[in-house]
Amino acid sequence: MKKRNTLALVAGASAMALALAACSSGEETPASNGATATAAGECNVGIAMPTRSLERWINDGEGLKSRLEADGCTVDLQYADNKTDQQISQLQNMIANGSNILVIASIDGTTLGPVLEDAGNAGATVIAYDRLILGSPNVDYYATFDNYSVGTLQGKYIEEQLGLAGGDGPYNFEAFAGSPDDNNARFFFAGAWDVLSPYLDSGQLVNPSGTAPASVDDWQSIGILGWGSDDAQAEMDNRLASFYAGGEKVDVVLSPNDSLAQGISQSLQLAGYTAADFPILTGQDGDKASVANILNGVQSMTVWKDTRLLGERVELMIKSLLAGEEPEVNDTTTYNNGVKVVPSYLITPEVVTADTVQSKLIDSGFLKPEDVGL
Ligand code: GAL
Repeated sequence: MKKRNTLALVAGASAMALALAACSSGEETPASNGATATAAGECNVGIAMPTRSLERWINDGEGLKSRLEADGCTVDLQYADNKTDQQISQLQNMIANGSNILVIASIDGTTLGPVLEDAGNAGATVIAYDRLILGSPNVDYYATFDNYSVGTLQGKYIEEQLGLAGGDGPYNFEAFAGSPDDNNARFFFAGAWDVLSPYLDSGQLVNPSGTAPASVDDWQSIGILGWGSDDAQAEMDNRLASFYAGGEKVDVVLSPNDSLAQGISQSLQLAGYTAADFPILTGQDGDKASVANILNGVQSMTVWKDTRLLGERVELMIKSLLAGEEPEVNDTTTYNNGVKVVPSYLITPEVVTADTVQSKLIDSGFLKPEDVGL
Protein backbone atom coordinates (compact mmCIF):
# COMPACT_ATOMS: atom_id res chain seq x y z
CA MET A 1 0.00 0.00 0.00
CA LYS A 2 1.41 3.37 -0.98
CA LYS A 3 2.88 5.20 2.04
CA ARG A 4 0.45 7.97 2.68
CA ASN A 5 1.20 10.98 4.68
CA THR A 6 -0.46 9.14 7.55
CA LEU A 7 0.36 11.56 10.36
CA ALA A 8 -1.18 14.38 8.38
CA LEU A 9 -4.23 12.29 7.57
CA VAL A 10 -4.67 11.26 11.22
CA ALA A 11 -4.27 14.87 12.34
CA GLY A 12 -6.98 15.72 9.86
CA ALA A 13 -9.11 13.00 11.41
CA SER A 14 -9.13 14.80 14.73
CA ALA A 15 -10.03 18.04 12.99
CA MET A 16 -12.89 16.39 11.09
CA ALA A 17 -13.95 14.38 14.16
CA LEU A 18 -14.04 17.60 16.17
CA ALA A 19 -16.15 19.27 13.53
CA LEU A 20 -18.43 16.25 13.25
CA ALA A 21 -18.74 15.82 17.04
CA ALA A 22 -19.63 19.48 17.48
CA CYS A 23 -22.15 19.19 14.66
CA SER A 24 -23.64 15.96 15.95
CA SER A 25 -23.87 17.20 19.55
CA GLY A 26 -25.87 20.11 18.24
CA GLU A 27 -23.34 22.51 19.78
CA GLU A 28 -22.37 25.54 17.81
CA THR A 29 -19.57 24.22 15.65
CA PRO A 30 -16.40 26.05 16.63
CA ALA A 31 -16.25 29.14 14.46
CA SER A 32 -12.80 28.01 13.52
CA ASN A 33 -14.12 24.54 12.71
CA GLY A 34 -13.38 25.06 9.04
CA ALA A 35 -10.24 26.95 10.03
CA THR A 36 -9.38 24.11 12.42
CA ALA A 37 -9.39 21.70 9.55
CA THR A 38 -7.69 24.25 7.37
CA ALA A 39 -5.25 25.15 10.11
CA ALA A 40 -4.47 21.45 10.50
CA GLY A 41 -4.17 21.69 6.73
CA GLU A 42 -4.96 18.04 6.60
CA CYS A 43 -8.48 17.67 5.32
CA ASN A 44 -7.61 19.39 2.07
CA VAL A 45 -9.53 17.88 -0.83
CA GLY A 46 -9.19 18.56 -4.54
CA ILE A 47 -12.27 17.60 -6.56
CA ALA A 48 -11.64 17.36 -10.33
CA MET A 49 -14.82 17.07 -12.39
CA PRO A 50 -14.83 16.69 -16.22
CA THR A 51 -17.33 19.30 -17.35
CA ARG A 52 -20.31 21.44 -16.45
CA SER A 53 -21.92 20.67 -19.81
CA LEU A 54 -23.57 17.53 -18.44
CA GLU A 55 -26.01 18.08 -15.61
CA ARG A 56 -24.95 15.23 -13.40
CA TRP A 57 -21.38 16.47 -12.94
CA ILE A 58 -22.64 19.79 -11.59
CA ASN A 59 -24.69 17.87 -9.00
CA ASP A 60 -21.74 15.58 -8.24
CA GLY A 61 -19.22 18.36 -7.72
CA GLU A 62 -21.38 20.81 -5.81
CA GLY A 63 -22.93 18.08 -3.69
CA LEU A 64 -19.60 16.60 -2.61
CA LYS A 65 -18.09 20.03 -1.97
CA SER A 66 -20.87 21.02 0.43
CA ARG A 67 -20.67 17.68 2.22
CA LEU A 68 -16.94 17.99 2.81
CA GLU A 69 -17.02 21.66 3.76
CA ALA A 70 -19.72 20.86 6.33
CA ASP A 71 -17.24 18.33 7.73
CA GLY A 72 -14.66 21.09 8.12
CA CYS A 73 -12.56 20.29 5.05
CA THR A 74 -10.98 22.75 2.65
CA VAL A 75 -12.23 21.93 -0.84
CA ASP A 76 -10.96 22.98 -4.26
CA LEU A 77 -13.60 22.07 -6.86
CA GLN A 78 -12.61 22.41 -10.51
CA TYR A 79 -14.33 21.64 -13.84
CA ALA A 80 -12.20 21.08 -16.95
CA ASP A 81 -14.57 21.69 -19.92
CA ASN A 82 -13.88 18.11 -21.06
CA LYS A 83 -10.29 19.18 -21.85
CA THR A 84 -7.74 16.67 -20.61
CA ASP A 85 -4.85 19.14 -20.47
CA GLN A 86 -6.95 21.51 -18.40
CA GLN A 87 -7.80 18.72 -15.96
CA ILE A 88 -4.12 17.78 -15.65
CA SER A 89 -3.06 21.35 -14.83
CA GLN A 90 -5.91 21.65 -12.33
CA LEU A 91 -4.63 18.51 -10.60
CA GLN A 92 -1.08 19.85 -10.62
CA ASN A 93 -2.32 23.02 -8.92
CA MET A 94 -4.26 21.02 -6.34
CA ILE A 95 -1.15 19.04 -5.47
CA ALA A 96 0.94 22.21 -5.31
CA ASN A 97 -1.67 23.78 -3.03
CA GLY A 98 -1.50 20.89 -0.59
CA SER A 99 -4.57 18.81 -1.41
CA ASN A 100 -3.84 15.55 0.37
CA ILE A 101 -6.90 13.83 -1.07
CA LEU A 102 -7.80 14.02 -4.77
CA VAL A 103 -11.28 12.98 -5.96
CA ILE A 104 -11.13 12.67 -9.75
CA ALA A 105 -13.83 12.05 -12.36
CA SER A 106 -11.39 11.73 -15.27
CA ILE A 107 -12.08 12.93 -18.79
CA ASP A 108 -9.74 10.40 -20.34
CA GLY A 109 -8.65 7.88 -17.76
CA THR A 110 -5.51 6.96 -19.74
CA THR A 111 -3.88 10.40 -19.50
CA LEU A 112 -3.31 11.00 -15.79
CA GLY A 113 -0.34 8.72 -15.11
CA PRO A 114 2.36 11.43 -14.75
CA VAL A 115 0.30 13.83 -12.63
CA LEU A 116 -0.82 10.99 -10.38
CA GLU A 117 2.81 10.02 -9.91
CA ASP A 118 3.33 13.55 -8.59
CA ALA A 119 0.29 13.05 -6.36
CA GLY A 120 1.73 9.82 -5.01
CA ASN A 121 5.11 11.40 -4.39
CA ALA A 122 3.37 14.19 -2.49
CA GLY A 123 1.62 11.57 -0.32
CA ALA A 124 -1.82 12.42 -1.62
CA THR A 125 -4.52 9.75 -1.72
CA VAL A 126 -6.38 9.40 -5.02
CA ILE A 127 -10.03 8.38 -5.24
CA ALA A 128 -11.29 7.72 -8.80
CA TYR A 129 -14.84 9.08 -8.91
CA ASP A 130 -17.34 7.21 -11.09
CA ARG A 131 -14.77 6.70 -13.89
CA LEU A 132 -11.82 4.36 -13.39
CA ILE A 133 -8.39 5.90 -13.97
CA LEU A 134 -6.23 3.57 -16.05
CA GLY A 135 -2.56 2.72 -16.28
CA SER A 136 -1.43 4.18 -12.96
CA PRO A 137 -0.49 2.55 -9.63
CA ASN A 138 -1.40 5.84 -7.95
CA VAL A 139 -5.13 5.20 -7.85
CA ASP A 140 -5.98 4.16 -4.33
CA TYR A 141 -9.75 3.69 -4.43
CA TYR A 142 -12.64 3.77 -6.90
CA ALA A 143 -16.14 4.93 -5.95
CA THR A 144 -18.76 4.32 -8.60
CA PHE A 145 -22.02 2.66 -9.53
CA ASP A 146 -22.14 -0.88 -10.87
CA ASN A 147 -21.40 0.14 -14.45
CA TYR A 148 -21.92 -3.31 -15.96
CA SER A 149 -25.35 -3.53 -14.37
CA VAL A 150 -26.26 -0.12 -15.84
CA GLY A 151 -25.99 -1.80 -19.24
CA THR A 152 -27.68 -4.96 -18.06
CA LEU A 153 -30.66 -2.93 -16.86
CA GLN A 154 -30.88 -1.23 -20.26
CA GLY A 155 -30.61 -4.55 -22.13
CA LYS A 156 -33.14 -6.28 -19.90
CA TYR A 157 -35.57 -3.38 -20.24
CA ILE A 158 -35.46 -3.79 -24.04
CA GLU A 159 -35.73 -7.57 -23.73
CA GLU A 160 -38.82 -7.32 -21.53
CA GLN A 161 -40.58 -4.54 -23.42
CA LEU A 162 -40.22 -6.40 -26.75
CA GLY A 163 -40.97 -9.88 -25.39
CA LEU A 164 -37.70 -11.13 -26.85
CA ALA A 165 -37.30 -13.98 -24.37
CA GLY A 166 -40.67 -15.27 -25.58
CA GLY A 167 -39.53 -15.29 -29.19
CA ASP A 168 -41.10 -12.03 -30.40
CA GLY A 169 -39.60 -10.13 -33.35
CA PRO A 170 -38.11 -9.16 -35.68
CA TYR A 171 -37.58 -5.56 -34.53
CA ASN A 172 -35.46 -2.83 -36.14
CA PHE A 173 -32.74 -2.04 -33.63
CA GLU A 174 -30.09 0.69 -33.47
CA ALA A 175 -27.29 0.92 -30.91
CA PHE A 176 -25.12 3.74 -29.60
CA ALA A 177 -22.20 3.65 -27.18
CA GLY A 178 -20.60 6.25 -24.92
CA SER A 179 -17.43 8.26 -25.33
CA PRO A 180 -14.57 6.07 -26.59
CA ASP A 181 -12.24 7.63 -23.99
CA ASP A 182 -14.54 6.71 -21.08
CA ASN A 183 -13.78 3.38 -19.43
CA ASN A 184 -17.32 3.24 -18.09
CA ALA A 185 -18.76 3.22 -21.61
CA ARG A 186 -17.30 -0.22 -22.26
CA PHE A 187 -18.96 -1.60 -19.14
CA PHE A 188 -22.31 -0.05 -20.07
CA PHE A 189 -22.10 -1.53 -23.54
CA ALA A 190 -20.96 -4.96 -22.34
CA GLY A 191 -23.83 -5.21 -19.86
CA ALA A 192 -26.39 -4.44 -22.55
CA TRP A 193 -24.74 -6.49 -25.27
CA ASP A 194 -24.53 -9.60 -23.14
CA VAL A 195 -28.33 -9.47 -22.96
CA LEU A 196 -29.09 -8.35 -26.51
CA SER A 197 -26.53 -9.91 -28.86
CA PRO A 198 -28.18 -13.37 -28.75
CA TYR A 199 -31.30 -11.71 -30.20
CA LEU A 200 -29.25 -10.24 -33.04
CA ASP A 201 -27.91 -13.75 -33.67
CA SER A 202 -31.44 -15.18 -33.67
CA GLY A 203 -32.74 -12.46 -36.01
CA GLN A 204 -35.27 -11.18 -33.49
CA LEU A 205 -33.32 -7.91 -33.53
CA VAL A 206 -32.21 -6.66 -36.92
CA ASN A 207 -29.91 -3.72 -37.52
CA PRO A 208 -30.76 -1.90 -40.80
CA SER A 209 -27.84 0.55 -40.45
CA GLY A 210 -25.37 -2.32 -40.18
CA THR A 211 -23.51 -0.41 -37.45
CA ALA A 212 -24.05 -2.95 -34.66
CA PRO A 213 -20.58 -4.01 -33.43
CA ALA A 214 -19.58 -7.61 -34.06
CA SER A 215 -18.59 -7.95 -30.41
CA VAL A 216 -18.16 -6.01 -27.19
CA ASP A 217 -14.53 -5.39 -28.13
CA ASP A 218 -15.73 -3.28 -31.09
CA TRP A 219 -17.94 -1.02 -28.95
CA GLN A 220 -15.94 2.11 -29.74
CA SER A 221 -17.04 1.90 -33.39
CA ILE A 222 -20.42 3.34 -32.32
CA GLY A 223 -19.04 5.55 -29.53
CA ILE A 224 -19.98 9.25 -29.35
CA LEU A 225 -16.96 11.30 -28.25
CA GLY A 226 -17.59 13.49 -25.21
CA TRP A 227 -21.12 12.10 -24.82
CA GLY A 228 -22.43 14.94 -26.98
CA SER A 229 -26.17 15.19 -27.63
CA ASP A 230 -25.59 16.98 -30.94
CA ASP A 231 -23.29 14.28 -32.29
CA ALA A 232 -25.76 11.57 -31.26
CA GLN A 233 -28.53 13.48 -33.02
CA ALA A 234 -26.43 13.84 -36.19
CA GLU A 235 -25.62 10.11 -36.19
CA MET A 236 -29.31 9.21 -35.76
CA ASP A 237 -30.23 11.66 -38.53
CA ASN A 238 -27.73 9.93 -40.81
CA ARG A 239 -29.01 6.45 -40.03
CA LEU A 240 -32.64 7.49 -40.59
CA ALA A 241 -31.81 9.16 -43.91
CA SER A 242 -29.64 6.31 -45.16
CA PHE A 243 -31.44 3.20 -43.95
CA TYR A 244 -35.05 4.13 -43.07
CA ALA A 245 -36.00 6.31 -46.03
CA GLY A 246 -38.25 3.65 -47.51
CA GLY A 247 -40.81 3.82 -44.74
CA GLU A 248 -39.21 1.26 -42.42
CA LYS A 249 -39.66 2.17 -38.76
CA VAL A 250 -37.14 2.12 -35.93
CA ASP A 251 -38.48 -0.05 -33.11
CA VAL A 252 -35.77 0.25 -30.45
CA VAL A 253 -32.62 2.29 -29.74
CA LEU A 254 -30.00 1.40 -27.15
CA SER A 255 -28.64 4.66 -25.75
CA PRO A 256 -26.10 4.35 -22.90
CA ASN A 257 -26.97 7.66 -21.22
CA ASP A 258 -29.41 10.57 -21.19
CA SER A 259 -27.34 13.15 -23.06
CA LEU A 260 -27.15 10.83 -26.08
CA ALA A 261 -30.82 9.86 -25.66
CA GLN A 262 -31.81 13.54 -25.80
CA GLY A 263 -30.10 13.94 -29.18
CA ILE A 264 -31.52 10.68 -30.52
CA SER A 265 -35.00 11.61 -29.32
CA GLN A 266 -34.78 15.00 -31.05
CA SER A 267 -33.74 13.28 -34.28
CA LEU A 268 -36.63 10.82 -34.10
CA GLN A 269 -39.15 13.57 -33.31
CA LEU A 270 -37.91 15.69 -36.24
CA ALA A 271 -38.33 12.60 -38.43
CA GLY A 272 -41.99 12.48 -37.43
CA TYR A 273 -42.06 9.96 -34.60
CA THR A 274 -44.47 10.87 -31.80
CA ALA A 275 -45.28 9.42 -28.37
CA ALA A 276 -47.82 7.23 -30.17
CA ASP A 277 -45.22 5.35 -32.22
CA PHE A 278 -41.96 6.22 -30.47
CA PRO A 279 -39.27 3.54 -30.42
CA ILE A 280 -38.05 2.14 -27.13
CA LEU A 281 -35.19 4.47 -26.13
CA THR A 282 -32.96 3.84 -23.10
CA GLY A 283 -30.87 6.28 -21.08
CA GLN A 284 -28.91 6.84 -17.88
CA ASP A 285 -28.40 9.60 -15.27
CA GLY A 286 -31.91 10.93 -14.59
CA ASP A 287 -31.19 14.24 -16.35
CA LYS A 288 -34.08 16.71 -16.05
CA ALA A 289 -34.56 16.96 -19.84
CA SER A 290 -34.65 13.19 -20.18
CA VAL A 291 -37.09 12.72 -17.31
CA ALA A 292 -39.37 15.29 -18.96
CA ASN A 293 -39.03 13.32 -22.23
CA ILE A 294 -39.91 10.12 -20.38
CA LEU A 295 -43.04 11.74 -19.00
CA ASN A 296 -43.88 12.95 -22.53
CA GLY A 297 -43.33 9.53 -24.11
CA VAL A 298 -40.23 10.38 -26.16
CA GLN A 299 -37.75 8.43 -24.06
CA SER A 300 -38.64 5.14 -22.38
CA MET A 301 -36.47 4.89 -19.29
CA THR A 302 -33.36 6.08 -17.56
CA VAL A 303 -30.97 4.19 -15.29
CA TRP A 304 -30.92 6.35 -12.21
CA LYS A 305 -27.69 6.74 -10.30
CA ASP A 306 -28.43 8.77 -7.18
CA THR A 307 -25.26 10.84 -7.19
CA ARG A 308 -26.00 11.86 -3.60
CA LEU A 309 -25.17 8.28 -2.61
CA LEU A 310 -21.89 8.48 -4.47
CA GLY A 311 -21.01 11.72 -2.68
CA GLU A 312 -21.88 10.12 0.67
CA ARG A 313 -19.69 7.13 -0.14
CA VAL A 314 -16.70 9.32 -1.01
CA GLU A 315 -17.27 11.31 2.18
CA LEU A 316 -17.17 8.04 4.16
CA MET A 317 -13.98 7.02 2.37
CA ILE A 318 -12.39 10.35 3.29
CA LYS A 319 -13.48 10.08 6.93
CA SER A 320 -11.87 6.64 7.12
CA LEU A 321 -8.67 7.89 5.52
CA LEU A 322 -8.48 10.81 7.95
CA ALA A 323 -9.02 8.39 10.81
CA GLY A 324 -6.10 6.33 9.53
CA GLU A 325 -8.45 3.47 8.66
CA GLU A 326 -9.00 1.55 5.44
CA PRO A 327 -12.12 2.77 3.61
CA GLU A 328 -14.89 0.22 3.14
CA VAL A 329 -14.99 -1.38 -0.32
CA ASN A 330 -17.29 -4.05 -1.77
CA ASP A 331 -15.44 -5.06 -4.92
CA THR A 332 -11.77 -6.08 -5.03
CA THR A 333 -11.79 -7.99 -8.30
CA THR A 334 -13.65 -6.19 -11.13
CA TYR A 335 -11.73 -3.00 -11.77
CA ASN A 336 -8.25 -3.79 -13.03
CA ASN A 337 -6.84 -0.52 -14.32
CA GLY A 338 -4.04 -2.18 -16.25
CA VAL A 339 -1.56 -1.88 -13.39
CA LYS A 340 -3.56 -3.02 -10.36
CA VAL A 341 -7.03 -4.06 -9.29
CA VAL A 342 -8.35 -0.92 -7.66
CA PRO A 343 -10.34 -1.52 -4.47
CA SER A 344 -13.83 -0.21 -5.27
CA TYR A 345 -17.17 0.56 -3.79
CA LEU A 346 -20.06 -0.04 -6.21
CA ILE A 347 -23.50 1.44 -5.64
CA THR A 348 -26.53 -0.21 -7.23
CA PRO A 349 -28.31 1.77 -9.97
CA GLU A 350 -32.03 1.43 -10.69
CA VAL A 351 -34.46 1.82 -13.58
CA VAL A 352 -36.87 4.76 -13.65
CA THR A 353 -39.82 4.91 -16.05
CA ALA A 354 -42.77 7.28 -16.35
CA ASP A 355 -44.60 5.26 -13.67
CA THR A 356 -41.82 5.69 -11.09
CA VAL A 357 -40.60 9.26 -11.70
CA GLN A 358 -42.71 10.52 -8.80
CA SER A 359 -41.84 7.83 -6.28
CA LYS A 360 -38.13 7.53 -7.09
CA LEU A 361 -37.01 10.95 -8.29
CA ILE A 362 -39.47 13.49 -6.91
CA ASP A 363 -40.37 11.94 -3.55
CA SER A 364 -36.66 11.28 -2.87
CA GLY A 365 -35.90 14.97 -3.49
CA PHE A 366 -33.49 14.17 -6.32
CA LEU A 367 -35.60 16.31 -8.69
CA LYS A 368 -38.31 18.90 -8.15
CA PRO A 369 -41.66 18.64 -9.98
CA GLU A 370 -40.92 21.88 -11.83
CA ASP A 371 -37.61 20.41 -13.06
CA VAL A 372 -39.53 17.98 -15.24
CA GLY A 373 -42.64 19.91 -16.16
CA LEU A 374 -44.90 18.51 -13.44
C1 GAL B 1 -20.12 8.29 -17.59
C2 GAL B 1 -20.99 8.23 -16.36
C3 GAL B 1 -22.43 8.29 -16.79
C4 GAL B 1 -22.67 9.51 -17.64
C5 GAL B 1 -21.63 9.69 -18.70
C6 GAL B 1 -21.76 11.04 -19.35
O1 GAL B 1 -18.81 8.10 -17.23
O2 GAL B 1 -20.77 7.01 -15.64
O3 GAL B 1 -23.24 8.34 -15.63
O4 GAL B 1 -22.66 10.63 -16.80
O5 GAL B 1 -20.33 9.56 -18.17
O6 GAL B 1 -21.15 12.01 -18.66
